[in-house]
Amino acid sequence: MRTVITGGAGFIGSHLVEHLLEQGDEVVVLDDMSTGAPRNLMGSLDDPRLTIEHGSVLDREKVLATVRGADRVFHLAAAVGVKLIVEQPLSSLRTNIHGTENVLDACVATGASLLLVSTSEIYGKNASDKLTEESDRILGSPLKSRWTYAAAKGIDEAFAHAYWTEYGLDVTIVRPFNTVGPRQTGRYGMVVPNLVGQALRGEPLTVYGDGEQTRCFSYVGDVVPAMVRLIAEPRATGQAFNLGGAEEVSINSLAQRIIDVTGSTSHVTHLSYGEAYAAGFEDMRRRVPDYTKAAELVGFDPATRLDDIILRVAGEMHSRERREREPQFVRRQVILDGRSA
Ligand SMILES: NC(=O)c1ccc[n+]([C@@H]2O[C@H](COP(=O)([O-])OP(=O)(O)OC[C@H]3O[C@@H](n4cnc5c(N)ncnc54)[C@H](O)[C@@H]3O)[C@@H](O)[C@H]2O)c1
Repeated sequence: MRTVITGGAGFIGSHLVEHLLEQGDEVVVLDDMSTGAPRNLMGSLDDPRLTIEHGSVLDREKVLATVRGADRVFHLAAAVGVKLIVEQPLSSLRTNIHGTENVLDACVATGASLLLVSTSEIYGKNASDKLTEESDRILGSPLKSRWTYAAAKGIDEAFAHAYWTEYGLDVTIVRPFNTVGPRQTGRYGMVVPNLVGQALRGEPLTVYGDGEQTRCFSYVGDVVPAMVRLIAEPRATGQAFNLGGAEEVSINSLAQRIIDVTGSTSHVTHLSYGEAYAAGFEDMRRRVPDYTKAAELVGFDPATRLDDIILRVAGEMHSRERREREPQFVRRQVILDGRSA
């Protein structure tokens, strides 16, 4: 099986690369290294079945050349993270809409099947008890860049569905809900790596708003195998699937659990959304998935508990920071950067 992963040097993508190499796939990563990095693939770089193509999904010819000869494509390349979207709305929109169109066209041209990675953000401010795949989307103004990620991913899904209907493209859509785990970066506003990093450094844990907003975090190691089973499942074609966590937790409780699990001496402070992002910034109070559909069709089971997730994130962050200070790491990084240039 020859598999292309766009965004394969990112957080979820790098876990997917490892999983597919273990399954015996030949894997080609297409990534522009904007938020991803070759170091995320450090454990797989010496595997001859892995090829890394440095390039953008906005480069139509490059996308087509990369997808040609592939059996399947996982499309993860995107501008991700509230901070990034708010700071760079135009390039984010371009990547998240035109980049996806290029991938869809390449799959139609080559006959490759496609897993389109969308997001739970498409549900916007819908705070229902359990969001099913049929739940309504409640979005703020399109003039607020905070909502353009959800708007663009919604367009991606509509495009994918139309390609399935009109061209018979074998495409399946997944909507991850706050997927977390080792190698996720906190640089673009992701809450778990940010709070864990602060706890490890003994700094105050910065919680935005009143902290009573809730989320359901799922472990990347539970989400990735479900994506792989879904792309291989003919009954999934043309449909969307929620992939989310089982436990609803407020961000205040998350921060306290991080302090407890890491044994940190830090305390929690609160920062208004206006100070964290921009005046008028809106967030959703809760986001709770109903993932019955994926559980029933491919046995999706978000079994890893939050405390274990925190431990794994903290363990990886701690050893990475130590490793990155070692001179041999710096030398290897220079070689990797050269290889991906
Ligand atoms: N992490 C989550 O909680 C979460 C939740 C819902 C959906 N998703 C989706 O999962 C996918 C992966 O997200 P992630 O959390 O791993 O983030 P990430 O930022 O680590 O991964 C995105 C990857 O795409 C690459 N990329 C960005 N623009 C590109 C371009 N123009 N051309 C080629 N590569 C490009 C980046 O360099 C990076 O490696 C995204 O599509 C995201 O929308 C993630």
